[in-house]
Amino acid sequence: MTETIHPAAGRAGSIDRAEYERQYEAARNDPDGYWREQAGVIDWSRPFTVVKDTSFDQADFRIRWFADGQLNVSANCLDRHLATRGDQAAIVWEGDEPGETRTVTYRELHELTCRFANVLKAHGVAKGDRVTLYLPMVPEAAAAMLACTRIGAIHSIVFGGFSPDSLANRINDCDPRLVVTADEGCRGGKRIPLKANVDSALESCPGVESVLVLRRTGAAVPMVEGRDVWLDEELAMVDGDCPAEPMDAEDPLFILYTSGSTGKPKGVLHTTGGYLVWVAKTFRDVFDWREGELFWCTADIGWVTGHSYVVYGPLANGATTVMFDGVPSHPDHGRLWETVDRLRVNILYTAPTALRALMREGDGYVTKYDRGSLRLLGTVGEPINPEAWDWYWRVVGDRRCPVVDTWWQTETGGILISALPHATDLKPGSATRPLPGVLPQLVDGEGVPLDGAAAGNLCLTDSWPGQMRTVWGDHDRFFQTYFTTYPGKYFTGDGCRRDTDGYYWITGRVDDVINVSGHRMGTAEVESALVLHPKVAEAAVVGFPHEVKGQGIYAFVTLNAGEEWSEALATELKQWVRREIGPIATPDALQGAPGLPKTRSGKIMRRILRKIAEGEVGALGDTSTLADPAVVDALVAGRVG
Ligand code: WTA
Repeated sequence: MTETIHPAAGRAGSIDRAEYERQYEAARNDPDGYWREQAGVIDWSRPFTVVKDTSFDQADFRIRWFADGQLNVSANCLDRHLATRGDQAAIVWEGDEPGETRTVTYRELHELTCRFANVLKAHGVAKGDRVTLYLPMVPEAAAAMLACTRIGAIHSIVFGGFSPDSLANRINDCDPRLVVTADEGCRGGKRIPLKANVDSALESCPGVESVLVLRRTGAAVPMVEGRDVWLDEELAMVDGDCPAEPMDAEDPLFILYTSGSTGKPKGVLHTTGGYLVWVAKTFRDVFDWREGELFWCTADIGWVTGHSYVVYGPLANGATTVMFDGVPSHPDHGRLWETVDRLRVNILYTAPTALRALMREGDGYVTKYDRGSLRLLGTVGEPINPEAWDWYWRVVGDRRCPVVDTWWQTETGGILISALPHATDLKPGSATRPLPGVLPQLVDGEGVPLDGAAAGNLCLTDSWPGQMRTVWGDHDRFFQTYFTTYPGKYFTGDGCRRDTDGYYWITGRVDDVINVSGHRMGTAEVESALVLHPKVAEAAVVGFPHEVKGQGIYAFVTLNAGEEWSEALATELKQWVRREIGPIATPDALQGAPGLPKTRSGKIMRRILRKIAEGEVGALGDTSTLADPAVVDALVAGRVG
C-alpha cells in the first residue's frame, strides 16, 4: 500500500515531469513573466500591464494581481465559447433520482444567465451589491452566479444545509438587497424546506428587499406580497440579452463564509482576475482536461470546491460539467458508478469521506458497473487515508486512473498542492508537490523554517493569483488571522510533513477548526450554539478521529445549577445544535461534565479534552497547572463512545 505509482505517459499537451519542473522554476524565478503568460488562459477586455503587486509584510501589506486589467467572468465562461461550442453541453444536470437529467448547452446557459442578470437589474441590483444564493444544485444556481458576475454584483452562496439562523447571520454580515432560493430542495429522497428557511431567516434581516423563488419541487410555499416573486415568471418578462460589465481585475467576485478558529464564520472575499486565472489553469493542469471530456465534481456549490470546480474552472475552459443534486448513497451505494456509466463520466472529483462511506458497503456496488469511461480520479477536502486512496485507485479505477489528492482551502481559491497526473509519482495519502507559483514552507512553533524532511506548520511564503483578498468588512481580521502567527508568511492552519522526496503530507488542522466529512467547522461555533440552550452553562468542543467522517464532533457540556444530565437531554442538545447551525454540526458525542479543565487563569485546556475524546486517557500529559486537577478524573470516567 505504500508503493509509489509512476505516471503513465500523457496525451499531447499533458504536463510531464520536465514541463512541471520548468514551470515551477519559471514561476519561482520570474513570477511576473510566468503569470503574464499564464493569464492568457482567460480573455481580458483590457490587457493588464502590472502583474504581481503583493507583500505579506505588515508595513506594505497588499495582494493585487493584474490590477489594471479588465475582464468579465461570465463573458469568459460563456460568451467566448459561443462561436466554437454554442451547442455543446455546458452543464449536465443529474437530479436526486437516477436518470432525472437535463442538459444545458453553452448557448442556453448564456441566455439563461443574461435573463437572470436582467431580472437582478430589474430588482435594483447594481455593480458592487451583494446577492445571497440559497439554492439546490440546479443549472439555475450556476446561472445565478454567472448573472451576478455579468453585472458586477457579488454573490454569497450559503449551503442549503445551513439553518435559518446560520443563513440570517451570513445575510446580515454582507447585507444583500436580494436573496435567491427555491421552494424546496431534494436530497436523498428527502425534501429540504429552503423557502421556509429563508422566510424564517428574513425575520431578522430587515435589509433584504426581494426574494426570487425557483420552482424546484412545485411545493406550495407562502409568498410574501411585495417581497417574493417566482423566478420563472421574472425570467420570462425580461430580455435575453445583457451586456457583460467590464470589471477591474481586483473588483470583488464573491464572498464565501468559512469557519475559523475563533468567532463567527468569516466572509472570504475573492476578486475577479486572479481567481479566474487560478481556477482556469488548475482545472486544465490538474485534471489534464481535453475537449469533449465530461467532468464531475460532486461538491455542492455551497462550498468553495463547488464554486471553483463545478462552475468557474470548467466553464472558463469550455468543459462540460456535471451538477449533481443528489447524494452517493441514494437510491443505493452504487449511485456514483451507475451515474458514471450512464453519463460516461471521464473525470471524477470527490471527497475522502464519501469514499470511506462507500468502501464500507463492499466492492460489489462498484464492480457491478463498468466504469470504463473514467480516466482520472481526484479527491479534496480532508486528508485521505492510504486505505481509502488504495480503494479508489484499485477498485474504482481498476489501477488505470491516476488519483490526484488535491490540497487547498476556501482562502486559496483553487488547488495549491497536488499531483499532475502525467508528471508526478503518486504516493497514497500524499498531496505530493506544490503547483507552479506555490511556495510552501514548514515552520516550527516559533516560526523557524524547517528544511528537508520535517514536520511542522504549513505556511506559504509568497502570494499566488487565486489568494483571497480580505475578510468581508474586516480587513484587519484578515491580516490578524493569516499573517501574524508567522510574520511575513500566510499561515494555512494546517499541520504537514515533508518527506525525503519533497512530498507534502497534510496531517490536518492545528487550530480549533475541525474537519467533519470534509466540512470545516469552528469549535467555537458549536460551543456558542450549545450555550444558547437554557440548561447549558458552558461547553467545550473538540474533534476526534471518526472512521467515516474523518473527524467527529465531541462536546463537553456543563449544566446550570439544579439541572440534571440525562440521555434525553443529550439527544435534545444534539437536535438543538442541528437546528441552530445545521445537520453538519450535529455533535457525534456529548458528555455531561461536572466542570471543564481550566488553568488558574480560566483558560480551557483543550489539549486534555482532545486526548479524552480520542480515548487516549493514559497520555494526558501535565495536568498540574489546572485549577482543579480532580475534574480530569471525572471527565475520564464519564467518557462517552
Ligand atoms: C483540509 C476545501 C488534506 C485542510 C477545498 C484545509 C485537506 C481545509 C485537503 C480547507 C487534502 C483540504 N488533504 N487536507 N487534499 N484538502 N483539506 O476551506 O485542513 O473547506 O485547511 O476548502 O481542508 O477546507 P475548505
